[in-house]
Amino acid sequence: MTALSVSTSSAASLRADALVIGVAKGPKGLLLAPGSEAVAEAFEGKLAEVLSTLGATGAEGEAVKLPAAPSLKAALVLAVGLGEAAEAGYSAETVRHAAGVAARTLAGLKKAALALPADSAELIEAVALGGLLGSYSYTTYKGENGKSPVGELVVLTDRKGSKDAKAAVERATAMGEEINRARDLVNAAPNDLNPKSFAAIAQAAGKEHDLKVEVLDEKALTKGGFGGILGVGTGSDNPPRLVKVAYTHPKAKQTIALVGKGITYDSGGISLKPAGHNETMKCDMAGAAAVFAAVVAVKRLGLAVNVTGWLALAENMPSGTATRPGDVLRMYGGKTVEVLNTDAEGRLVLADAIVRAGEENPDVIIDVATLTGAMVMALGNRTFGVMSNNDELRTRLHTTAVSVGEPAWPMPLPADLRKGMTDSTIADLANMGDRMGGGLVAGLFLKEFVAEGTDWAHLDIAGPAFHEGAPFGYTPKGGTGSAIRTLVRFAEETATGGKA
Ligand code: BES
Ligand code: MN
Ligand code: ZN
Repeated sequence: MTALSVSTSSAASLRADALVIGVAKGPKGLLLAPGSEAVAEAFEGKLAEVLSTLGATGAEGEAVKLPAAPSLKAALVLAVGLGEAAEAGYSAETVRHAAGVAARTLAGLKKAALALPADSAELIEAVALGGLLGSYSYTTYKGENGKSPVGELVVLTDRKGSKDAKAAVERATAMGEEINRARDLVNAAPNDLNPKSFAAIAQAAGKEHDLKVEVLDEKALTKGGFGGILGVGTGSDNPPRLVKVAYTHPKAKQTIALVGKGITYDSGGISLKPAGHNETMKCDMAGAAAVFAAVVAVKRLGLAVNVTGWLALAENMPSGTATRPGDVLRMYGGKTVEVLNTDAEGRLVLADAIVRAGEENPDVIIDVATLTGAMVMALGNRTFGVMSNNDELRTRLHTTAVSVGEPAWPMPLPADLRKGMTDSTIADLANMGDRMGGGLVAGLFLKEFVAEGTDWAHLDIAGPAFHEGAPFGYTPKGGTGSAIRTLVRFAEETATGGKA
């Protein structure tokens, strides 16, 4: 993993393989961003001109390399685009994005210094986090041909009082490492990551970070009556698990329950997915990965709030022991569900976990799930949907997500869509309703399992959890770590007095 540090040295005197500066689109052409002063001086005022000649425009995502001036102690200068020049200062997300581009571009080098806009603790943290996230690469199965990530990133700042600069970099390190942990879990091949091995990883990491981890295996799930999780997992040779990971703080006034969908592979079951729809379905545990990573991050940050994570882990496979379309499951808590489509499995495992989480009377339950293709249709590949039984909570989560740079959008739970699901002739509910508005139908199904009076929100991350296109900003191909920053910031707001 890339090492991160912060320094108040001048970019001119720092020894590194590369120096990274920011450039922007100004009204009269290319502008050098704050942080680049010492580098510009070494080029004797010609840097903007040289970069323009090389084709730099300052556009977001752009990266232009040039040999360093002789007086600099680095071999290379890399200019990354920040988009439109912002006189009032660049946003944290713009800076994170640029740092991510830089880290990705400099893969293979030993050491790079980031001389990007970083005159506040918030921007220092953004440079550090963007750098750490952008340097991520998943090499577990790669031979020698895999390029190793940049070895060391030094965040340069002229901000005096290095104490809060250090703290900012420490926070970014905790967040970056936990987001990268979730990415690793999502990227792991499903023949390696199954409910049992996921639970074992959670136990080991829990031990390392002094978190209480409890695992219910298939026997305990049967004894407890977790019909949803068992029904989804029963077709697989890899039995299901329910993992509870608890973080408590002595000064906590509120408790947040996080519930993650953890389908380690979603073949669709007997309602088998066709080719073209199952190649990326190892990502169907991204919600559980996000929940786990968020709990560990909250612990590392020492936030004064209790957070309990629930990972509903199962593998959805077709076989002679698989749940059939037409079967009725008795869910945890007693409700019955007629399974009309075994590919609508996420809501079944989540329902059990939501009921179980609710038994501990948390102040709020937030579930995170790669739940529906319909949500991807509605919001595209980069934006997650936020649903809730409480309008204020939904607004708050949306605002929180946007504030940390995670695109999200509020979605309704229209009462008329509930009917299709309650039409089951033989059970309390069916696991399918109207095809139209399928993402909302799934949300309405989950809502049925939330105890009266409990605030609950649902994040459908089916779009942003897994990135299939070319890398951009700090987002690599594959697992992205979607929703973790939102969850942790939400916990932070709650710890510092916000309403959960
Ligand atoms: N895991 C899928 C949803 C999904 C789709 C995640 C695309 C990531 C990318 C989920 O279990 C599923 O199969 N949903 C069905 C529900 C339908 C059968 C009601 C869907 O969206 O088609
Ligand atoms: Mn499915
Ligand atoms: Zn699924």
